[in-house]
Amino acid sequence: MTHPPALSTPALAAKNLFKVFGRAPQAAVEKLRAGFSRSEVSEQGTAAVIDASFEVHPGEIFVIMGLSGSGKSTIIRMLNGLHEATAGTVEVQGDALTGVSSSRLRSLRRDRLAMVFQHFALLPHRTVAANVAYPLELRGVGKAERLAKANEILALVGLEGWGDKLPSALSGGMQQRVGIARALAADTDVLLMDEAFSALDPLIRREMQEQLLELQRTLKKTIVFITHDLNEAMFLGDRIAVMRDGRIVQIGTPEDILTDPANDYVEQFVQDVDRARVLTAGNVMERPRPRVEASAGPRTALRQMRDAYMSAVYVTDRDRKPLGIITDRDAITLVRAGESSLLSKLKPLPQSVHEDEVLMNLFVPSVESPLPLAVLDTEGRLSGVIPRVTLLAALGPGPTSTEEITVLPQPLPSAEIDAVLDAPDATSLENQEVAR
Ligand SMILES: Nc1ncnc2c1ncn2[C@@H]1O[C@H](COP(=O)(O)OP(=O)(O)OP(=O)(O)O)[C@@H](O)[C@H]1O
Ligand SMILES: [Mg+2]
Repeated sequence: MTHPPALSTPALAAKNLFKVFGRAPQAAVEKLRAGFSRSEVSEQGTAAVIDASFEVHPGEIFVIMGLSGSGKSTIIRMLNGLHEATAGTVEVQGDALTGVSSSRLRSLRRDRLAMVFQHFALLPHRTVAANVAYPLELRGVGKAERLAKANEILALVGLEGWGDKLPSALSGGMQQRVGIARALAADTDVLLMDEAFSALDPLIRREMQEQLLELQRTLKKTIVFITHDLNEAMFLGDRIAVMRDGRIVQIGTPEDILTDPANDYVEQFVQDVDRARVLTAGNVMERPRPRVEASAGPRTALRQMRDAYMSAVYVTDRDRKPLGIITDRDAITLVRAGESSLLSKLKPLPQSVHEDEVLMNLFVPSVESPLPLAVLDTEGRLSGVIPRVTLLAALGPGPTSTEEITVLPQPLPSAEIDAVLDAPDATSLENQEVAR
């Protein structure tokens, strides 16, 4: 094995990758480079992947998404050398995978890349444990050691005790867990998953997605995950590459893709996305107003509330860590008492949520919080707030902030309304005249 790569080295890098199946692949690539379309090179062959470039960072889940036939499997097969690229290069952790000898390719594939397939691809006559141990067997690990390791990994994916069974005794979801366990047994930094969950029932599929994220929290692998399901892509991906007809048409975070689709194609694609499960508190929050630092005192707090038309404000320390809230009534009491500190009248912080929480989970806290919902970062600092109207607006297409939404002015003070209601007005005087 070579020395570990520097931090900045991408786990995988694809540069100007092409794959053409057919009679004259090189000629097709020349024409594609010259600007000819996919259909214009059909005489020369099927252009499955056209000029694809991207880098996958260590530890991220990079999703490649596109309709059937858009070239996803062809790309992932070039990433692990199962397909030879017609043109362009692939590097794994800084080392070339393209243009190397077949023995070099084999060792790179064995030591650096593990793959999970759509249809599990388990060996039917071997036990579950022997399937999981298979990559270790290829590496020459002794039987007792590899079976022990296999059982350890089976426990990790929730299949403790199933090692002695044959794959046919397991449900689809369990078989795919075996597939994942086998890929984990290879103990590579990079996992390639081609439609790994597509053959599963929706409920099992959802469960597997959650389990994958859970595993990823501790294992911190680099994962390339292929899917044609946008909701799955958005749920799993740190970044997503959207493919169409062999080309990558956009690479971005789920939020980028949702809020700023690169073209009409991507826009159409994202129309059906369940935004409540994709967008996070951090994506839609607004600047944390109203907020005062405890050291600022009751007068500043009152001014802030008046300007923001609010009856309470968040109070934080210097580091923006929330201490609680103060109401306008309490602030007035403090001003009248000549107090300079807010601390004696602080009320506890209402509901708050973490930046990474998806909108789906914000509705209840949002209803329970008397102030715009407080959003905290990982250090526990108040990084933003989400007014309810912002939360609602974020669920539809269009702007994810309330800036463009018209709101009614603040209600008049009730004393002012009472005064008007109590005073005799012109019509009631007239009525009295008539009655008389
Ligand atoms: N071995 C091959 N020989 C010829 N053509 C191929 C081969 N493999 C793929 N293709 C063609 O290349 C194109 C891209 O196929 P690919 O399998 O990469 O798509 P995909 O995005 O993975 O689709 P799916 O979602 O159906 O798996 C398709 O037009 C396909 O017919
Ligand atoms: Mg495929």
